[in-house]
Amino acid sequence: MANFFKASPKKTNIKSHITLKVSHLDHQGCGVAFYDKKPIFIEGALPHETVEVKVFEQKSKFSKAKLLNVIAASAVRTEVKCRHYFQCGGCNLQHMVYQQQLAYKQDKITQLFSRQTLNDNLPWQPPIVSEPWHYRRKARIGVQYNKRGEPIIGFRQRESSHLTEIKSCPVLVEAFADIFVELKAVLTKVSGKNAVGHVEVISANEKVVVVRQLVNITTADKKHWESFAHKNGWLVYFDDGKAVLPLLEDKALNYALTDTINIGFTVNDFIQVNHLVNQKMVEQAQAWLALDESDVVLDLFCGLGNFSLPIAQQVNSVVGIEGVESMVVKAQENALKNNLTNCQFYQADLNSDWQNQSWVKQKYTKVLLDPARAGAYQALVQLLTFKVDKILYVSCDPASLARDAKLLIEHGYKIEKIALMDMFSQTKHVETMVMFSL
Ligand SMILES: C[S@@+](CC[C@H](N)C(=O)[O-])C[C@H]1O[C@@H](n2cnc3c(N)ncnc32)[C@H](O)[C@@H]1O
Repeated sequence: MANFFKASPKKTNIKSHITLKVSHLDHQGCGVAFYDKKPIFIEGALPHETVEVKVFEQKSKFSKAKLLNVIAASAVRTEVKCRHYFQCGGCNLQHMVYQQQLAYKQDKITQLFSRQTLNDNLPWQPPIVSEPWHYRRKARIGVQYNKRGEPIIGFRQRESSHLTEIKSCPVLVEAFADIFVELKAVLTKVSGKNAVGHVEVISANEKVVVVRQLVNITTADKKHWESFAHKNGWLVYFDDGKAVLPLLEDKALNYALTDTINIGFTVNDFIQVNHLVNQKMVEQAQAWLALDESDVVLDLFCGLGNFSLPIAQQVNSVVGIEGVESMVVKAQENALKNNLTNCQFYQADLNSDWQNQSWVKQKYTKVLLDPARAGAYQALVQLLTFKVDKILYVSCDPASLARDAKLLIEHGYKIEKIALMDMFSQTKHVETMVMFSL
């Protein structure tokens, strides 16, 4: 291989222990200070604080430091609730009072929009909030094994692929907040060492634990899992990578979305993680769309019909589009179970060319879209030809939302309303609803 000259990047040699004044938070919720005009990222530091840090990584353009001591604390600093907070990578805003978490998230969206659309005067509406603790009804819990084959149960450490051993988690719903100790006990007893990759917990009409285990379960191990299930009242399933099978009995799963609508699902399906925020979000979507009996609504990235079904109760008809075929089937079943005959669901990859699909020929009055984190640029480019008056965009990623908003604004849409939805309190994750109109 040829040798090329490579100039070594100019490094500022920072003493490892220094005192800094924090300037702002970056988009990951990490404190940023400057040393010799170069940014230093400090997890856990807040704007305006004076902090003592230990620099552990120095690059040509930035450095990273560990927070050792807060010398002058911010007025919005608060005691953290979780004893694992400073190791676990799951949450990153617990040290900030809750109202400030909301302000930070709103500000982050404003900044991203301002960069893309040059509009920093957004028509903000009050945020949707619920309980800031014990809200998470679906989560994946990691399982690793140490050299002695003993299980470590928890979530990823900050900036690492290793797990932090967790005893209790204050953002998981109460039913599962202490599952870690129970899991450790059963995984210590079962014979298949290193067999379990992770465990998924889901709280709905039943409390469900899905164990990801690629090897067959032995009769003796089955007994251990049965007593784990009985003791806690949990339904246990095993996922071997090919199928998800119940340990004992299989039960139909569903969550009550409204007084009149239940959404049926199976353990592999997407459901919104925060039940209360989801209910309020659906109500707000209905209100912002100002639905009436003449509306024909297109629901893109519709999943199991979480938005489509309540909307269908108020309009002429709804067409829902979803990429996962099995969810399309379940969305149609959900419509029938909820006595709704004015919904049709179709499978399509919305990031590909879908202009020739049968449902495109229909005339729609309003559109709702709720894409995954990548956003919906390809879908929106095609949707522009519909010239629909109202587009309601539900987003779980502010950067892709701001990029997609730019496209809509360039094609004549205006932002009528925008609101934060705090689906993931204590974390940096931001969910937003935007109403665009022509
Ligand atoms: C954020 S979820 C929203 C689901 C539903 N609206 C809800 O509230 O439960 C995004 C959905 O988009 C689907 N999806 C992701 N990429 C897609 C694509 N390229 N085409 C169609 N659907 C897609 C996922 O399977 C998932 O059901």
